[in-house]
Amino acid sequence: MKIDKYPSVKTISEDERVGMVKEIFSTITGKYDFLNHFLSLRRDIAWRRFAVKKMVFFRTNRFLDVACGTGDLSINACLEHRDISATGVDFVYPMVQAGNNKAEKKGLSSRINFIQGNALSLPFGENTFDVTGMAFGIRNIPRKAEALKEMLRVTAPGGQIMILEMTFIENRFFKLFYYIYLNYLLPLMAKVFSKNAAAYYYLADSIMNFPSPEEFATFMRETGVSEVKIYPLTFGITCLYVGKKP
Ligand SMILES: C[S@@+](CC[C@H](N)C(=O)[O-])C[C@H]1O[C@@H](n2cnc3c(N)ncnc32)[C@H](O)[C@@H]1O
Repeated sequence: MKIDKYPSVKTISEDERVGMVKEIFSTITGKYDFLNHFLSLRRDIAWRRFAVKKMVFFRTNRFLDVACGTGDLSINACLEHRDISATGVDFVYPMVQAGNNKAEKKGLSSRINFIQGNALSLPFGENTFDVTGMAFGIRNIPRKAEALKEMLRVTAPGGQIMILEMTFIENRFFKLFYYIYLNYLLPLMAKVFSKNAAAYYYLADSIMNFPSPEEFATFMRETGVSEVKIYPLTFGITCLYVGKKP
């Protein structure tokens, strides 16, 4: 079965990559939730739930979900923490729309608002949120330091910065299996269920080109996030990084 591929993220410019990311997420919106749950064997749900349980609200009772997609992190946060409100930002409008529809169906539209916007220039003032999180978004953003600095700017001092992201595990027992899964099985399964199977080659490529957990945690510290902790999930194929705004 032939599947056209997007070029590797290593070979294209930042602008080309951003254009590609926008195209990918605009074309897979309708199938995004289903494929996420199916291809991760519903682990993505457990990973977001783990993140939400680590959230601590202490002043503004507001959560910001950067690169919110269809909004699951915000929805989970509002279900777990009954007295907070959440705002989500994503630059792909169909994702934002899908998130707002989902929040409405769950009776959460008075507490959640998803808007179109760019992670690199968040439309909020300084110190607005107790917790600012990003689930599976940072891998898609070439200017990672700028995105983290924006997250820091809008977070209240002492508030949390959370990043949930997939990584390519180096464990030699799992490495080969994970490589085959990412590069062969995943795009084939995606081909059956989605019009844009090439998007899932991009997924594999972007995961394999993401820094190791230690490298990424160091990068967070260097960008100004303090007390960074790494929580490896499901053999480390995903990690939750939790730090603080000093
Ligand atoms: C893999 S999805 C993750 C969605 C959601 N957070 C989740 O947990 O399923 C990545 C999202 O990041 C968004 N995104 C990528 N770069 C962005 C940017 N610079 N600003 C805003 N959203 C961005 C994409 O549009 C896409 O919806």
